[in-house]
Amino acid sequence: MSGTDLAGKVAVVTGGSAGIGAASARALAEAGARVVILYRSGESRARALLAALPGTGHLALAVDITDPASVRAMADAVRDAYGRVDVLVNSAGVTRPIPHADLATLDEALFDQILIANARGPYSVIRALLALLRAGAPSVVVNISSVAALNGAGSNIAYGAAKAALETMSVSLARVLGPEVRVMCVAPGPVATDFVAGRGRDALEKLAATTPLKRVVEAEDVARAVMACVLHLPTSTGSRIIVDGGRML
Ligand SMILES: NC(=O)c1ccc[n+]([C@@H]2O[C@H](COP(=O)([O-])OP(=O)(O)OC[C@H]3O[C@@H](n4cnc5c(N)ncnc54)[C@H](OP(=O)(O)O)[C@@H]3O)[C@@H](O)[C@H]2O)c1
Repeated sequence: MSGTDLAGKVAVVTGGSAGIGAASARALAEAGARVVILYRSGESRARALLAALPGTGHLALAVDITDPASVRAMADAVRDAYGRVDVLVNSAGVTRPIPHADLATLDEALFDQILIANARGPYSVIRALLALLRAGAPSVVVNISSVAALNGAGSNIAYGAAKAALETMSVSLARVLGPEVRVMCVAPGPVATDFVAGRGRDALEKLAATTPLKRVVEAEDVARAVMACVLHLPTSTGSRIIVDGGRML
């Protein structure tokens, strides 16, 4: 991909302050986009990334995707700054490692919290930015789901259920938002970020050793799949790209 493929385009990245979102923000800026890095608690990380991005016209904004008023305020700020959105990457998400047999720990309050952050949150962001995505048509939304949506084997039961909801919602939205807006999912296996508390490099390497490709999946690998959705799949919508080194096989 060249440094001008996305020249003049505006890309909004939730969870842009860390991991997969930060890697996607870098890749989008390298392709020439003006990038809006959305963060929740990681302001200093977001500002450091903002300063390091190639190109100009980038912005860092705070948002809590579980709070509809905060999402609307973010959308107003993006509208005032750019008037359009060409690419939306929904990478923000949360989890907590809980053994699936431990139903006592995964109580209803925690289940709701995980479902709202990982499923309703991306929906709120798409809903709030829809007019701007239409203004940027043809535009694309890339939702970062997880293989947990498919195999039910993620960090906890609510997380897999939430990511399955995100996947199904993406298909529904893809059906109704075309031809202006494409909606894609990228579903990673375990990725080398700080997403799962207490999961270190050793654990990731052990997991990778059990997969056909025997490679730890890096945030940049997932960002490459995001860029494929954005740049190279103009006739795909409602589709999913799995990035897991063959783990699902
Ligand atoms: N890493 C993996 O193994 C893996 C595997 C499959 C799928 N995924 C998915 O990939 C996505 C990115 O994960 P990651 O690995 O990059 O994790 P990460 O490094 O922990 O980043 C998570 C990001 O989400 C943001 N965030 C969390 N709650 C938020 C909220 N309520 N409002 C706004 N932003 C919020 C965080 O912002 P602040 O830091 O600013 O608070 C952070 O930027 C997630 O959706 C995750 O489910 C990850």
